[in-house]
Amino acid sequence: MVQFTAESHLKEAVKRLQNSENPRLKEVMTAFSKHMFAFINEVQPSEEEWMTGIQFLTELGQTCNDVRQEWILFSDAFGVTMLMDYINHHKEQGSTESSVLGPFYRERAPVYEKGDSISQDHVGEETLLRGRVTDRSGKPIVGASLDVWQTAPNGMYEVQDENQPDFNLRGLFKTDENGEYEIRTVKPVSYPIPDDGPVGKLLGAVGRHPYRPAHIHFIVNAAGKKPIITQLFTKGDEYLSSDAVFGVKDSLVVDYVQKEDGYQVEYDFVLEDM
Ligand SMILES: [Fe+2]
Repeated sequence: MVQFTAESHLKEAVKRLQNSENPRLKEVMTAFSKHMFAFINEVQPSEEEWMTGIQFLTELGQTCNDVRQEWILFSDAFGVTMLMDYINHHKEQGSTESSVLGPFYRERAPVYEKGDSISQDHVGEETLLRGRVTDRSGKPIVGASLDVWQTAPNGMYEVQDENQPDFNLRGLFKTDENGEYEIRTVKPVSYPIPDDGPVGKLLGAVGRHPYRPAHIHFIVNAAGKKPIITQLFTKGDEYLSSDAVFGVKDSLVVDYVQKEDGYQVEYDFVLEDM
């Protein structure tokens, strides 16, 4: 028998993973044990606090349904999703940087021609997005695809809002023979992440707001290139430095330049080779 201490207990918990036939699972569960024990040793929770934590995790699961994933929201709102994105997708200097996919992406958006508008109801301030898709040497990529989606000026994606047409403010575009794209849309606005569940309550309890700065989502793809999942954020937005999901990177902040017939945004996407 060994005397039970925090150290001997961790040692024993890790020892019991040794027979795992999956080496990666063993590595993951060993790290989990070490860090979870360290967390509890640091926090020294009371039993009441521990039950509050258990209750929170239970509510996270119970809030999930077909259209809502509270666990992902928890990961987003406390910075883990952007850390995951950095570990798996960080880019070389000069390539377009990535950001979170978010929960509102839909596959098979309508296919549009260069210059078409993704706004089906034209509610909002007219905006033209234009630029090129290139490789890292600046060579334009012909036929690159841009999958784009955003909120309406009421702050809601069309899936959240029965008053918007199906697939409003979503579209698939291709670059032309010069590697150029043009997308007409309306200016996006900042919006709150769903804050009526346990994640929203926790944000409030730690003194944080639930808002994301205005942004447009993109997935850019081209043959032989690494796909990029990213967002373009509106310069001057009040939430740029406190995005509820930590998605903002300086290189992804764009200027909405006022022209005679609306705003214009220029941005070139730079893709890395596979
Ligand atoms: Fe979004």
